[in-house]
Amino acid sequence: MTTERVLILDFGGQYRDLIARRVRECAVYCEVRPCAMPLEEIRAFAPGGIILTGGPHSVYEPGAPEADPGIFQLGVPVLGICYGCQLMASRLGGEVTPAAEAAAREYGKTETRLDPAAPLFEGLPGESVTWMSHGDYISHLPAGFRVIARSEGCPNAAIGDPARKLYGVQFHPEVRHTEYGAAILRNFLYGVCGFAGTWTMENYRAQAVRSLREKVGKGKVLLALSGGVDSSVCAALLAEAVGQQLTCVFVDHGLLRKDEGDLVEAAFADRDLRFVRVDASQRFLRRLSRVHYPERKRKIIGEEFIRVFEEESRKLGKADYLAQRTIYPDVIESGLGAAAVIKSHHNVGGLPDAVDFREILEPLRPLFKDEVRALGRELGLPDSLVERQPFPGPGLAIRIIGAVTPEKLRILREADAIFREEMDKAGLGASAAQYFAVLTNLRTVGVMGDGRSYDYAVALRAVETEDFMTADWARLPYDLLDRVSTRIVNRVSGVNRVLYDITAKPPATVEYE
Ligand code: XMP
Repeated sequence: MTTERVLILDFGGQYRDLIARRVRECAVYCEVRPCAMPLEEIRAFAPGGIILTGGPHSVYEPGAPEADPGIFQLGVPVLGICYGCQLMASRLGGEVTPAAEAAAREYGKTETRLDPAAPLFEGLPGESVTWMSHGDYISHLPAGFRVIARSEGCPNAAIGDPARKLYGVQFHPEVRHTEYGAAILRNFLYGVCGFAGTWTMENYRAQAVRSLREKVGKGKVLLALSGGVDSSVCAALLAEAVGQQLTCVFVDHGLLRKDEGDLVEAAFADRDLRFVRVDASQRFLRRLSRVHYPERKRKIIGEEFIRVFEEESRKLGKADYLAQRTIYPDVIESGLGAAAVIKSHHNVGGLPDAVDFREILEPLRPLFKDEVRALGRELGLPDSLVERQPFPGPGLAIRIIGAVTPEKLRILREADAIFREEMDKAGLGASAAQYFAVLTNLRTVGVMGDGRSYDYAVALRAVETEDFMTADWARLPYDLLDRVSTRIVNRVSGVNRVLYDITAKPPATVEYE
């Protein structure tokens, strides 16, 4: 049976997640799995198409990653990319050769001649730019295959066996530098696999609601709502599915931005669910009042959060299900090896052992962030929530350097609201992925009216980034910075200086602590 789902087997390629996103952009569901996935599991997954990613290895290297060669006999279309292409060629009887001289290797933009008669390249011009990144090349084709693209350095830039629907490309269709990359993937999915593109958030909503109802039955569901995009969408979806059986506990730790708690509450006021807002700000502040070290702050907030949540859930009685806001990038990332801990991220998603429940529900688990936003819009959540920038779990506590006090929170909230308001007014909201104010622990001398002031310096941070792993500082217009600075210094008592942060990540991080 052909299903509208693609299995992406991961050989360690750096563009793995990008492939998955491009496939989803074509309205086709896909999942990334390790290349060693057993054939039985692959059969059970019932893919309608398989994509083999690139990878840093050479196919003849000892210990080079392998996939079960049985995948080529399943009768399912396969697209091998770079390493995936070489692996397919070598396992089906072809030959792969390391490029003897550096000159034969290809990296970067490459003029490539495509054969428009091949289903993979249907409707595309005969010549276009592709993004190559490979050392090895296919020197001998397996039986049944023919060449469908060439470049100067690579006579077999793409190969195909139309009868078995097996295709391989040496270049990377998933990166934007490949001129017709999206069209090539689309041709594979629609033309070769025969998909219609049924993966839409409208369909997902209907299907998720159905299966949540089936699973939960008359059970009770508990969700920790932070007001972030993921937990809000999770709440809206569950509310639609099970209504009053869902209780959302919104722990207000007192570290939210101006009016944020009310905004979250208002977004859920008319929905069919039980909404509990817990004002726990005093206890968080008490525990943070003399804490200076960033990691210590993060730990305290994480612990306290769990404690409050546990207390509230005990009051509510036993829940059958605990809902988590896990999304697909979390799933992919947790499959990777341990990376050095730079900051211990606190997410209200990673929750407690002590809460008594039967099972965990993760209704957003298959979705990428942009899909979560689309689902949120589909469910009628306001843009202010759905388009919300990332906001760290520990909230303003990690944007106040040093100890957190009510006075510092007041200063930061006011300054941050002015910055965000001016960005909105200037129509620059979309020009930076994240922007906010930070209260430095630095007090400096200033002159205000006839007097001397000795007040805080506020830093403004605005970054451009796609993945938040690296980021550049946003080149905001001077006149905007000028307006923000003037307003903050005039309106927010306790501030006499405004700084603009011009540091990239790395070496800095986005947040200050
Ligand atoms: P950094 O400061 O690590 O931030 O460069 C990268 C992105 O992660 C967000 N961030 C957090 N998000 N819990 C979260 O949910 C956290 O503890 C946390 N710390 C940082 C940050 O806002 C940025 O978007």
